[in-house]
Amino acid sequence: MKFDVLTLFPDMFTSYLREGILGRAIERGLVDVALLNIRDFSRGVHRVVDDRPYGGGEGMVMKAGPIFRALQSVERVEGYGPVVLFSPQGEPFTQDMAWDMAECRQIIFVCGRYEGVDERVRSTCVNMELSIGDYVLNGGELAAMVVIEAVSRLIPDVLGGERSNLEDSFENGLLEYPHYTRPRVFKDLEVPPVLLSGDHEKIRLWRKKQSLKRTRERRADLLQKAELSLEDKAILEELT
Ligand code: ADE
Repeated sequence: MKFDVLTLFPDMFTSYLREGILGRAIERGLVDVALLNIRDFSRGVHRVVDDRPYGGGEGMVMKAGPIFRALQSVERVEGYGPVVLFSPQGEPFTQDMAWDMAECRQIIFVCGRYEGVDERVRSTCVNMELSIGDYVLNGGELAAMVVIEAVSRLIPDVLGGERSNLEDSFENGLLEYPHYTRPRVFKDLEVPPVLLSGDHEKIRLWRKKQSLKRTRERRADLLQKAELSLEDKAILEELT
């Protein structure tokens, strides 16, 4: 999977891309991230990438030209996916989108900055606009990192033996059950005895129950949308 990231701040990515699971995936050649500095595609000695907004007002707007030229320079790999612009006005990013993206061979990200990007970037260069939440960041760089991470961990072999992604929160439309590790007692708080019982069926049911309970308490909206089995429904009934 290749990610091409157009940004004014490529250095923001460098240590992030070296660390942990993602760092290893890059080292092993499972994921490739190319960073393109939009400023390298500006014209003139001053390397200007932004300008004042037509119509007046506060702040600066990223110019269309440098972004357009940066995008033109990106070589498209066969099976390439969308060109994504990050902005708070975009469609909310979800786990389902991450799975769709994980099918692509290449995704191109455009990280907006300043007050925004020239509207003509939207109409000519990008075919998807994404937000990672209802809050305003200084730019799309953190959003790009979030999406790169969420997508990369779905690529076969990236997680390796570490852990399956199929039990993660959201994968079955529910939040995950609570986890415990040693010690058995911490500040007078005991690990639930069922987890020490060795009875796999009992443990599975306990976890399912906790997952449903948590989802109902914290994210009732997810429960509405989740595909519930007969067992799930029976457990929920019992919980009421
Ligand atoms: N740029 C600024 N805020 C953003 C957000 N919430 N999501 C994606 N990109 C952004």
